[in-house]
Amino acid sequence: MDIKSKLKPEYQIEFEKYKGSDNIPVFLSDKYITGYNEKYMKMYNWMSHGYDFVETVVGRLKYGKSINKMRNDIISKLEWRNNISVLYVSIGTGKDLQFIPKTIDSKTLDIVGADISIGMLKKCKKKFIGQTNLSLSNCCGEELPFNDNEFDIIFHVGGINFFNDKRFAIQEMIRVAKKGTRILIADETQDFIDNQYKKSYLSKKYFKGQKFDLKEFELNIPKDVSELNIELMWENKFYCITFRK
Ligand SMILES: C[S@@+](CC[C@H](N)C(=O)[O-])C[C@H]1O[C@@H](n2cnc3c(N)ncnc32)[C@H](O)[C@@H]1O
Repeated sequence: MDIKSKLKPEYQIEFEKYKGSDNIPVFLSDKYITGYNEKYMKMYNWMSHGYDFVETVVGRLKYGKSINKMRNDIISKLEWRNNISVLYVSIGTGKDLQFIPKTIDSKTLDIVGADISIGMLKKCKKKFIGQTNLSLSNCCGEELPFNDNEFDIIFHVGGINFFNDKRFAIQEMIRVAKKGTRILIADETQDFIDNQYKKSYLSKKYFKGQKFDLKEFELNIPKDVSELNIELMWENKFYCITFRK
């Protein structure tokens, strides 16, 4: 539960000052709340009220059990073990936490969830705080408030395609990972953006004209990572990248 000890010293000194609504600490700087980050932060703050319902009910009607299967497949690629620290960048409402393998005693995990949207974090907190050893941080993927070499597992599912600075966000995930950590980044392909986000009544105005090129995205991954693997999942609707620091 101790997020404070994971923070950079400058945030630890005046920790109380960063407490925001629902006691979730806020480390958002104006520098990154511009452009796409600002647009999608506002969208997710608004969507947070119906996000779980849409995936559970509407998603289930359209895609059956395949969303859960994909989430489970993604989460099982991580190197879970007891008594480790975990960072989920863009945790949203925390949907993936239910897919942590049952062989793991989740009470021994020290999980931190980071997200730009306070609305999504509040939903996440309501669902998981008290049941899971989870602490939350309202921050940008491009500017994580955590110390170097802090986490044993780092992952991101959904969102990075339209971060203001994808390269920076990847560098930040690497910076806060312990040496040898496997990092996982997954998000939608152009196929899903076109056929779901650009067509859905709820999201179409936010994704009009949006393009995502996986080949271009790959160029943001530093050359010195090891075991780089890039694969398409869920009938090419999602990509999943893993590599080791
Ligand atoms: C599609 S949702 C995915 C949420 C969750 N990971 C899931 O799989 O359900 C995208 C998430 O990315 C977050 N996000 C968008 N831009 C971000 C940024 N620059 N830094 C951190 N989080 C961001 C949004 O607030 C939202 O919670």
